[in-house]
Amino acid sequence: MAKLSIIGAGAVGTSCAKWAMVKNVAEEIVLVDIIPDLAKGKALDLAQSSPLFGYSGKIWGTEDFSAIKDSKVVIITAGKPRQPGMSREDLLNINKEIVKSCAEKIKEYAKDSIVIVVSNPLDAMVYVAYRVTNFPKNRVIGMAGVLDSARYRYFIAEALKVSPKDVQALVMGIHGDLMLPLVRLANVSGIPVTELLPKEKIEEIVKRTKFGGGEIVSYLKSGSAFITPGLSVVEMAESIIKDEKRVLTCSVYLEGEYEISGVFLGVPVILGKNGVEKIIEIELLPEEKESLKKCAEACRTLINLLNM
Ligand code: 2OP
Repeated sequence: MAKLSIIGAGAVGTSCAKWAMVKNVAEEIVLVDIIPDLAKGKALDLAQSSPLFGYSGKIWGTEDFSAIKDSKVVIITAGKPRQPGMSREDLLNINKEIVKSCAEKIKEYAKDSIVIVVSNPLDAMVYVAYRVTNFPKNRVIGMAGVLDSARYRYFIAEALKVSPKDVQALVMGIHGDLMLPLVRLANVSGIPVTELLPKEKIEEIVKRTKFGGGEIVSYLKSGSAFITPGLSVVEMAESIIKDEKRVLTCSVYLEGEYEISGVFLGVPVILGKNGVEKIIEIELLPEEKESLKKCAEACRTLINLLNM
């Protein structure tokens, strides 16, 4: 029986719990938040929807972290979201302490779990969780690439007026303005996007993808995206819990892959019951390599600012 725990009952955490129920990813879903009764209320609201679409598992909320015991996957969504005008990096110090305390609890109560971090700035926060839990690198993963790639795929589909289901594309690198939406690998049912859209339109889509999170922050005025972030993290958790071996772009600790070491960055990986089962190294063009190096430098700068 798989148990999924979600730390943080804010917008993203609640969205994760909802999608996990809808997709029937785990028999038990636990929502945890330090704010008294918040997780209880959110989880009860979700539980009451289960007769309507037929979720038979258990979903509950608590402020007691010992509830995460025996989880296969623990998702950390706790942290402050961006407000308009803020970059993800502006959240570094405040979210560092929050993620640190979550990671300490995971180490204490769920030492065999696989951890997925969602808090921002993502690639630095997953490093915090990695250092604090001291778990092997295959068990500490950041969610960003699935979300950024979904945005990229959606914008391509919208431009071509085709079903988003048929668009495949990936975004590598940091979860920030330097991210790398790969153009030459984007395709619609195998047809390269470069054959379907003019160069200027593709450039516009790449730019919109890079600032995809910021665009939503600017509309919402308070808080950031939560629906697609929630589903993106559930895609990852599902692949782990059901051992699906999906190929998804995730932020993982690199030790020489892509000639980069000591930082977390988004690269394609195989996700299965052991977490990251393989990092897929693809041959990059010189300019793509250069962009990925820049992402690594940016992530290293953030890690240095963490002082840990
Ligand atoms: C986003 O890109 C919240 O960072 C997240 O929307």
